[in-house]
Amino acid sequence: MRLLPKANEACWCGSGKKFKRCHKQSQAEVVPHEISPIRPVPDTIDKPTWADGGDVERWDEPRVKSPEVIERMRRTGVLAADTLAYLGTIIKPGITTEEIDIAVHERAIELGSYPSPLNYPGVLDPFPKSVCTSVNEVICHGIPDARVLQEGDIVNCDVTLFKEGVHGDTNATFYVGEVDEMSQRLTQVTRDCTALGIAAAMPGEPINEIGRAIQTHAEANGFGVVRDFVGHGIGEQFHTDLQICHYYHPSLTDIIEVGMTFTIEPMITVGSWRSRMWDDGWTASTADGGRTAQFEHTLLITENGPQILTTPTNTVGHPYWDLARN
Ligand code: MF3
Ligand code: CO
Ligand code: CO
Repeated sequence: MRLLPKANEACWCGSGKKFKRCHKQSQAEVVPHEISPIRPVPDTIDKPTWADGGDVERWDEPRVKSPEVIERMRRTGVLAADTLAYLGTIIKPGITTEEIDIAVHERAIELGSYPSPLNYPGVLDPFPKSVCTSVNEVICHGIPDARVLQEGDIVNCDVTLFKEGVHGDTNATFYVGEVDEMSQRLTQVTRDCTALGIAAAMPGEPINEIGRAIQTHAEANGFGVVRDFVGHGIGEQFHTDLQICHYYHPSLTDIIEVGMTFTIEPMITVGSWRSRMWDDGWTASTADGGRTAQFEHTLLITENGPQILTTPTNTVGHPYWDLARN
């Protein structure tokens, strides 16, 4: 089942008008705007290899982390979560995604950390900003630019910080002012999908139980699950070889072990889950232009189950703090 109507079908809002004469046109396509020059990071900050134009270093990092690495990941995870929570207090109609980037860049430095996306190598150019901002039909990896956020937009902000040699990766979808009912439902279902995926990350279970839980809930609500982007192992490397699919993949039967750290970050769509890439080589949008939402946490697997490492210090103003209650 797909909820996004075809152009000539009745709009989902119940107006009785054709979709193309109703909500389709009030939701203008997101288009690229001017991107400002790269912002420097002081030499006092410890940087990953790509910060100054180097490659992403890859090595066989253990999937099960030592207690010492875990302690560092806890500290960095909280800083990333606090930065994301702060964004929740500044996002409103009239601000640009570039202003969100400036906020993340400055906070990261104040916290003594490096904003991991900055200069991260890609298929074409490196990512030129310190946070990903993905508006409306943009699935992920949107580049902050001069676009002004409009009342009714939804924007996902994906914050990753690097400090003490480890990364903490977390994102949330925020409402810009008042948003329509479908966007609210999409966002809430996506949040619940993330919670259900996290709850399924039990030690001793196969890793594909996570995607099964997410896909079941998304599809029961008529939504789609993006296939082209997955969760990932994380630690001293931003992305390790461990992949977490958000849909059920029968052959991913690796067992979830105590001490593993990985992200769960489902991208859920109103319409088709298929993606297409902008010419910038980064921005991924839905193929049909339907809206999409995402939430992400970095997790540690304990004997008792998953623990969220990206829990903010203060949960006030955080749109999904209750997910982060361990
Ligand atoms: N934070 C994203 C993730 O969840 C990765 C962003 S890479 C970037 O994996 F270069 F686009 F920033
Ligand atoms: Co991630
Ligand atoms: Co992320």
